[in-house]
Amino acid sequence: MLIVIDGLLADAEVNEWRSRLEAAEWLDGRGTGGTLSAAVKSNLQLADTSELAINLGNTIVQKLGVHPLFLSAALPEKIYPPKFNCYRNGGAYGAHVDSAIMVMPNKQSLRTDISATLFLSDPNSYDGGELEIETAFGAQAVKLNAGDLVLYPSSSLHRVTPVTRGQRVASFIWIQSMVPDEAERALLFDLDQSIQSLISEKPADDPTLLRLTSVYHNLLRRYAKV
Ligand code: NI
Repeated sequence: MLIVIDGLLADAEVNEWRSRLEAAEWLDGRGTGGTLSAAVKSNLQLADTSELAINLGNTIVQKLGVHPLFLSAALPEKIYPPKFNCYRNGGAYGAHVDSAIMVMPNKQSLRTDISATLFLSDPNSYDGGELEIETAFGAQAVKLNAGDLVLYPSSSLHRVTPVTRGQRVASFIWIQSMVPDEAERALLFDLDQSIQSLISEKPADDPTLLRLTSVYHNLLRRYAKV
């Protein structure tokens, strides 16, 4: 399940972030990631400990934490502090799967159920840099407007194609979901979205709506691992 969240950041905000990020000190991204993925990775990253990464990352987590579509799709349990990367001069990240378990800066472990990319560069300002995600229906190329975010299963094979003009700045985020199973999460998401659209049409005490809401919560009770 690929879910796009449009406009997590407003235009003015994303422009301001971009100028701060462009002035930041970028390090070779091969310092992070597994040994296997380092071999196919050619990009730059902000140090996780940099004040800029921490501040912007906190803002992203706060915005996600109150975003109804994100909460419905991800059912987040833990969010890894967002990281920032930059691809330029042919930089790319070959096909890889994200590591299953990450250790967060606070030393807690996080199981990566969902990966997210928040695009921060204007897509017309660079060539290449598509996030290609293997799905059951073939590879899907994702290149979004600045401020938009895509959620995809961390278990999927994915790559970033070479950036041959300009630069692609993005944030990437890992999420441990309360519902680890992708198919179960997708069912809950569809049900929740249907309930949300019925809520706008039906009175709050509508018995069908009440029954569907009860089904949602009882399925969540079965599927959630908390
Ligand atoms: Ni990845």
